[in-house]
Amino acid sequence: MTAPVHAIDVIAQKRDGGAHDRATLEGFLGAYVRGEVPDYQVAAWLMAVVWHGMTPQETADLTAVMAASGDVLDLSDLPHTVDKHSTGGVGDKTTLVLAPLLAELGGTVAKMSGRGLGHTGGTVDKLEAIPGFRSTLDERAFLDQVRAVGVAVTGQSKDLAPADGLLYALRDATGTVASLPLIASSIMSKKLAGGAQSLVLDVKVGSGAFMKTESEARALAEAMVDIGRRAGRNVRAVLSSMAEPLGRAVGNALEVREAIAVLRGGGPADLRALVVALAAEVLDATGLPHDAASVAAALDDGRAYARFERWVAAQGGDVAALDRLEVAPGEAAWTAPEGGVVATYDAEAIGRAVQRLGGGRASKSDVLDLGVGLTLHAKVGDAVRAGDALATLHHRDGRGVDEALAALEGAVDVREAAEAPPLMLGVLGR
Ligand code: URA
Repeated sequence: MTAPVHAIDVIAQKRDGGAHDRATLEGFLGAYVRGEVPDYQVAAWLMAVVWHGMTPQETADLTAVMAASGDVLDLSDLPHTVDKHSTGGVGDKTTLVLAPLLAELGGTVAKMSGRGLGHTGGTVDKLEAIPGFRSTLDERAFLDQVRAVGVAVTGQSKDLAPADGLLYALRDATGTVASLPLIASSIMSKKLAGGAQSLVLDVKVGSGAFMKTESEARALAEAMVDIGRRAGRNVRAVLSSMAEPLGRAVGNALEVREAIAVLRGGGPADLRALVVALAAEVLDATGLPHDAASVAAALDDGRAYARFERWVAAQGGDVAALDRLEVAPGEAAWTAPEGGVVATYDAEAIGRAVQRLGGGRASKSDVLDLGVGLTLHAKVGDAVRAGDALATLHHRDGRGVDEALAALEGAVDVREAAEAPPLMLGVLGR
């Protein structure tokens, strides 16, 4: 039984730059979840957190309190439970490859994933491009499948870390999203409640990412690794570049096709390299050490793809349809404004263009066209001539093409000379 907490005292403590102890956070947020503290008091507290921040211990306590606010998955009887989280990017289909790959290499993957919002995509939407795929599993079916196949991916349960769900909606409406301890605790509360012992975080940096600079991304990664360590989990973070979309495909069905190419040993080099690095990190963290070559071998010899098919079939997906996923038939070109070498893309603008075609959501209730998207022909570092197609837009009956091309206006920087930046900028938590 925690002592009653007076909301006004908690707000004043943070307003004056103080640090809360765990009991205070438990009392305050517990009362909020029960509806005993109104939104306006929590909003005032959130703004005080934005201004004064939180100590590492406070951030870890806030995370633990949010994680314990609802269901917590007990995976303790399963071997080598692993999970991953991406802070969100454009063309980021790594989970589709990583999940079966990790299962094949001895990990147990019980993963909850989100839908796309704004310019970034979501794994659940991508999986729904596979006919028949059930993206919502109840807890029993989810855990049964994990035991039988080693991998299951389901939509984020509302019963997991409900305090985060409430706080996130309030932050969104009160200009208090942009706070490192609030972002780190929000992400990690869902991961702690998800129950995996080892976790790899893919922290994206650049134009298409939440964190635009390397120093911001590094600080977020450090905070999340620290939370995990204090909670007794093995957490690694890989900083990876979002100076351009990952791979060449952006859009749900197109991304599944590209993920399949990587699972069959082909596909774009950047996507494959990132998947291999993330897999090697989390396998090492969970005590199943693998070097890049042995991870890559599971892609090249068909084992990862075979596991992918078993996973898809277990969730009701039509395996026979995997080679003919529907892509919208209309095509339009986005062309290079001048000749030279592609120096950088505005990946966020590319994500917005796909949203305009109908492939992403402006609001949570939007229904997606899973067949639309964009295929990049020139990656950063490639030479182009003026008028060359940088990308093909895949559209349905012209819907959104003008808006997409308008979003892409100025979204490429072509220079006389340029080199592709490194894909990975560092690893934390080893
Ligand atoms: N993603 C989350 O889950 N929470 C945040 O606060 C930001 C991104």
